[in-house]
Amino acid sequence: MMRRMIIAGNWKMHTDREEAQALAKGVVEKVGGKTEPGVILCPPFPMIPAVKDIIEGTTVQLGAQNVHPEDKGAFTGEISVDILQSVGCNFAIVGHSERRAIFNESDEFINQKVKKVNSSLMIPILCIGETLQEREEGLTFQRVEQQLRDNLNDVVVTTGNDIVVAYEPVWAIGTGKTATPEQAEEVHAYIRELLSDIYTQDIANDITIQYGGSVKPSNAKELLGQPNIDGALVGGASLKAEDFCGIIEAGS
Ligand code: PGA
Repeated sequence: MMRRMIIAGNWKMHTDREEAQALAKGVVEKVGGKTEPGVILCPPFPMIPAVKDIIEGTTVQLGAQNVHPEDKGAFTGEISVDILQSVGCNFAIVGHSERRAIFNESDEFINQKVKKVNSSLMIPILCIGETLQEREEGLTFQRVEQQLRDNLNDVVVTTGNDIVVAYEPVWAIGTGKTATPEQAEEVHAYIRELLSDIYTQDIANDITIQYGGSVKPSNAKELLGQPNIDGALVGGASLKAEDFCGIIEAGS
């Protein structure tokens, strides 16, 4: 098995029903028949069925932006793996830096989510990455290692397809400041080394490690051309079909 290139669009808290459908249509028209790279759309929860209608029968897949680790119960405002699966989600973003920073999600809570998604038919996209302060203090590798080990604690991975990791330096998210291909590659290679220590070299070689943080059509080719960068998790540029598809083209 060779690891897959995967481009995911994280729409965050954008798009009403009409916008979501138009955006999904724009993506499907351009890349709906492509098998490589893999393409995932992560709309706001209520738009999942509307987007599902449009991607049905194409190669584009659906992801959720968040998920709760419990099966069901009194968790007002939360969404379970079963609920997501029943509306056709195959992936769930876990541990996005906005969830960590704004909603105070701890590494332990993120670990519970990864475990839950991993034990289902869905695949977690685990986001990790250092803040600007951590980078400036020379703590990038330490921080990434701590997050990866804590978030994957007791997570059973038997093939490279079981999980996707996204390296997202917090200082590059939504800032227009992209990590240079060299900066990103250095951390990606380190993450793969850690994965080979946590699992095996074969599994680590097969795990898709996406880069995220101000990816756009103009910088995608160089980033995706790095040996250990296997895709992108795209925020801002995923809200325009043309830009998002430009990034997909760069990964083709
Ligand atoms: P951005 O967001 O592409 O807007 O920087 C990336 C992300 O948050 O996943």
